[in-house]
Amino acid sequence: MIEIEHCQEDVKTLLDRPIVLVGIMGVGKTTVGRLLASRLGWSFYDTDDEIVRLVGKSISDIFSEDGEPAFRELERTTIKHLLSQGPCIISSGGGGFTVPETTQAIKERSLALWMDAPIHLLVDRTKSGDRPLLKHGNPEDVLQNLLDRRRVYYAQAHVHVLDDGLTPEEMANRVLLQIREYLYDRASDQEKESFVPDAMCMTVTVTDRSYPIFIGSGLIKQPELWLAHELQGRDAFIITDYNVRERITDSFVKTLKPLMKSVSMMELAPGEQTKSFERYQAVLEWMIDNGVKRDSVVFAVGGGVIGDLAGFAAATIMRGVDFIQVPTTLLSQVDSSVGGKAAINSKSAKNIVGTFYQPRTVVIDLDTLMTLPRREWLSGYAEIVKYGLIGDEAFFEWLGENGALMLDGNLSQTMRAIETGCHKKAEIVANDEKEKSGERALLNFGHTFAHALEANAGYDGTLLHGEAVSIGMVLAARLSQRLGYLAQDDVDKIYNHLHSLGLKTEIRDVGFKTPVTVDDLISAMKKDKKTDVHGLKFVILKRIGDADLESSVDEALVVSILEGSM
Ligand SMILES: NC(=O)c1ccc[n+]([C@@H]2O[C@H](COP(=O)([O-])OP(=O)(O)OC[C@H]3O[C@@H](n4cnc5c(N)ncnc54)[C@H](O)[C@@H]3O)[C@@H](O)[C@H]2O)c1
Repeated sequence: MIEIEHCQEDVKTLLDRPIVLVGIMGVGKTTVGRLLASRLGWSFYDTDDEIVRLVGKSISDIFSEDGEPAFRELERTTIKHLLSQGPCIISSGGGGFTVPETTQAIKERSLALWMDAPIHLLVDRTKSGDRPLLKHGNPEDVLQNLLDRRRVYYAQAHVHVLDDGLTPEEMANRVLLQIREYLYDRASDQEKESFVPDAMCMTVTVTDRSYPIFIGSGLIKQPELWLAHELQGRDAFIITDYNVRERITDSFVKTLKPLMKSVSMMELAPGEQTKSFERYQAVLEWMIDNGVKRDSVVFAVGGGVIGDLAGFAAATIMRGVDFIQVPTTLLSQVDSSVGGKAAINSKSAKNIVGTFYQPRTVVIDLDTLMTLPRREWLSGYAEIVKYGLIGDEAFFEWLGENGALMLDGNLSQTMRAIETGCHKKAEIVANDEKEKSGERALLNFGHTFAHALEANAGYDGTLLHGEAVSIGMVLAARLSQRLGYLAQDDVDKIYNHLHSLGLKTEIRDVGFKTPVTVDDLISAMKKDKKTDVHGLKFVILKRIGDADLESSVDEALVVSILEGSM
């Protein structure tokens, strides 16, 4: 269970400077700031109040009589003074953080925290009150405009916390959770030994909105910690599979019930075959029969199969209803639940019918992994290794030292690995949500080979997705070496790491039920989504931690790589 009191104590111990709350008007900087101050036993300062006290007139009067530049200057000097007060909470005015000199001082001498919220909540919260900037024009347009202009500044804050309809107490909890995580990441090895966070929260930003990912132990038992208030009291539609239902979903239903108007559950057969047109239709019919409405909330509780199918159903029913991912396999926790790809399979192609549809929240409860078979752990682990290979050599090295511990179920290593994976994926998705610039395509490292292997294995459990990815990464590393990019040493490191942990690394490890030829694999690659007008396309490595896309790869070379592994 998550103990917020521990979190408070950790923040108090580790933080030796003020926390400055930045963000647009209406996000609750003052209310939440006061709560944080009282929890931490620190002083609270509101820059606007300090200015009013100093000048002896209201903010409105300063704006109308002296102009905005005069106000910004007062704000700058006030913040500078407050920053020298030691640990305390400072609520800064909405525009203060957009003045370069003020921004720099805040970033250097405090922990800057961006409090973010969707516009509809801000409009609601700013209805009453003295807000000079909202006196002219439609408040929604004014706020949207302000946020569009200021987002680039706010994004420089050290920590970004999303309020998706929380009470001030809940927002204060979330802030503490995220600050602790930030501090833990930067703590010395000695400090890290003294505590391991039991939970963390990060914010994913996509084109038009943000959403939180929670990672921790015991989260499913505490939905009040992560379920946004505005989603509570609605009809919940939980989609799960047989294996997960008895282990996890039944008890989740019980804890969720008191928070929702109604909770319905549909259980499906486990396995890739469930991502079919027939099951998709069955899910939609079930929701319609059970009175789905525009404000219903779909929960996916299960692995990537359930997440992909439930996400596609949530995206398409009534043109989209709110969707929450509760991934229960390592693979879905570190990969499929983040990033918003939702899809089903056709008879001949995987994930060919789908859409991009971001969840409202992702809840990664590490306790769910306790019942996961080792084969599934290994499958998920392959996707974790992928993040190191395509973009973070140090993380790959870290896995070299900690991978075995993690696969033995060590919670702290598992949490670190999942968190890093989610961070990496969130970063890539933020830059290229719909796979337009090519950055997101790098996540397909090893996947051109993997999908061909999976298609030939038949999606019947002979070869798991991550197992195929593991073999695919070894083959893609060899291809990168043959194309003159990757050193043989690095190819060996990749192979040895995966092999030593017991992952599949060669095509001959698959155990196909019927014999498969090189031609079968090449023909599957040509049908894959990753092939374009330029022919066979691969993600290659230039070195460990640096990936790129390579089009028009010579088929003869691919054939020889495949032959060498069969
Ligand atoms: N959307 C994306 O971005 C994305 C990314 C990667 C993979 N995927 C998709 O994800 C799917 C694979 O996901 P997966 O590996 O999670 O497979 P899965 O959903 O089939 O789950 C694997 C098995 O584990 C069981 N299981 C799940 N949680 C369990 C638990 N806690 N304890 C015991 N058993 C449990 C399931 O019933 C199933 O039998 C594929 O369809 C793949 O295409 C999607």
